[in-house]
Amino acid sequence: MNPWMQVMRRVVHDPIGSYGYFADRVIRFNRRNKPPHEYPVDHDWRSLLGVSEDDRIRTERLWPEILGTLESRGIRPGPASYLFWNDADPALVQAIWCLARRLRAAKVVETGVAHGVTSRFILEALGERDGHLWSIDLPPRWAPEVHDEIGAAVADRSNWSLILGPSRRCLRRLLNDIGQIDLFIHDSEHTTRNMLFEMSVAWKSLRPGGAMVVDDIDLNEAFDVFCKRVRCKALIAKAEPIRPDPGKRRQGGLFGVALKH
Ligand SMILES: C[S@@+](CC[C@H](N)C(=O)[O-])C[C@H]1O[C@@H](n2cnc3c(N)ncnc32)[C@H](O)[C@@H]1O
Repeated sequence: MNPWMQVMRRVVHDPIGSYGYFADRVIRFNRRNKPPHEYPVDHDWRSLLGVSEDDRIRTERLWPEILGTLESRGIRPGPASYLFWNDADPALVQAIWCLARRLRAAKVVETGVAHGVTSRFILEALGERDGHLWSIDLPPRWAPEVHDEIGAAVADRSNWSLILGPSRRCLRRLLNDIGQIDLFIHDSEHTTRNMLFEMSVAWKSLRPGGAMVVDDIDLNEAFDVFCKRVRCKALIAKAEPIRPDPGKRRQGGLFGVALKH
């Protein structure tokens, strides 16, 4: 379906849910003559984060398996694979994997599941340890045909709780229920308002020494604004999509990692 048709369907089927998205578009339109925000990229993010040879080998080994699982269901993984949303790219999942192992994460929360590529990597990284992943995802009301693809990449669901609904409604309640977390991943709606909301709420529940990974930070200034606000150490990394990303982008797609002292 072409992108304009998707937008039309979204407005018709979910006018209230579309509000945040369109408000963000208006803000971006009004800023069109201002110089875009440029993030300074940490090209050596792998060594700064401590990605080990073992992390590399294990994430690279998992890729073909996950791609095969998705392809066997008729899904073409990669950019714009789930409507206009992208599946996670290899760099993003390597950072998440490395953090989950290094932090010996037991409680991980993410927003934005789609095919569940990040979810699968997190669950594999938790491995034999007694860890748990809580994922929040809002199935697009305007595209019911993709609902049965949610979490398609996840094989073993025993340590996984999938919560369906908008992060704005579900995230705070979930964090109140489960207490302190080790790792938070944002990969849901990348509007300034929603990103600032999720980062602020998750940060309060993040344990000292914990980390937050935020995808698609190049779309707006939210990550920069947030990191300055909480004065945390942050890394900026470039996405490494498995094929060119048609929807992207000034800086080629970026994700950020915020580390809590
Ligand atoms: C970029 S995709 C997630 C990709 C996924 N992390 C992966 O690696 O395969 C974004 C997902 O966020 C969901 N989403 C959009 N707005 C949301 C919201 N307000 N709250 C929760 N999920 C949302 C979309 O339905 C979609 O499934």
